[in-house]
Amino acid sequence: MFTNTKIEIQALSEKVGKKITNVGNISLLEIKQEEIINLFKSSGVLLFRDFENDLDTFTEFSNSLSTNFMDYTGGAFNRRIINNNATILTVNDFQDEVKLHGEMYYTNKPPLMLWFFCANPPLQDGETIVCDGQQFFDELSNSMKDLLSKKKLKFPGNYTKESWQKKFKTNDLNVVKEICQGNGMKVKTNEDESIDFQFICPAIHKSRDGKHDVFINSLLPAKKINPKLVCFDDDSEITDEIISELNEIAEKITVEISWQKGDILMIDNTRIMHGRRAFSDNQRDIYIRLCFPAFAF
Ligand SMILES: [Fe+2]
Repeated sequence: MFTNTKIEIQALSEKVGKKITNVGNISLLEIKQEEIINLFKSSGVLLFRDFENDLDTFTEFSNSLSTNFMDYTGGAFNRRIINNNATILTVNDFQDEVKLHGEMYYTNKPPLMLWFFCANPPLQDGETIVCDGQQFFDELSNSMKDLLSKKKLKFPGNYTKESWQKKFKTNDLNVVKEICQGNGMKVKTNEDESIDFQFICPAIHKSRDGKHDVFINSLLPAKKINPKLVCFDDDSEITDEIISELNEIAEKITVEISWQKGDILMIDNTRIMHGRRAFSDNQRDIYIRLCFPAFAF
């Protein structure tokens, strides 16, 4: 039970998440950490609304509950650093839709936890979307459960010399090779110093307590960005029918978050997938932090 009467707690959706609203003019830092942690563990995603948050309180609040912040070296998208802090990043510098995914599930070391901060909302559209990967698995047809339990996903790709220098912030090919191999990728270097890589991972993961199956991966956005590239680990095709079934489930269970200035979102990246709707104005300013819980998880 929450003991704090200065906040109101509502369901974010029928199945997953909680919205914590400030109704007593308090600071986020006044909420008992233990209460936040318990809610986070049971709900998977928390939205904090109507707190007077700026970048400093966001940083302090996320620092108080997380550790091992990542700087996104080797990440798939272009992100800008905010406030000279390499662990506070803009979300992707483009306006297209991003399909539901687990963050950095194209490596074997994804962060366990994510934070989002709304520095400025879009004028319209651009909602961040979330869904429960456990519910996603439950909604799959039996034949799809069977297929995705038997076959793994294969993400092949290539970095030109220029692109790996930028993504990995180094000029040393061996350093990049080491990082990629450390992330579970197979790597082949070419004569022009470009790199071919390949990452194989399951589409389904066990929940932290080992009791449930969770559909969480990077398949849907990867397939949208590079339809021909992603396949199963036996090189068989991931057909349009398969992707249609997955996209249908995704739409059915998606929860939309319409940003308000100062909103903070806390996400369990072992269970909750996230993405965003497309937008068309230049107002949307959302920051992300990738990290690990500073509490038993
Ligand atoms: Fe993401």
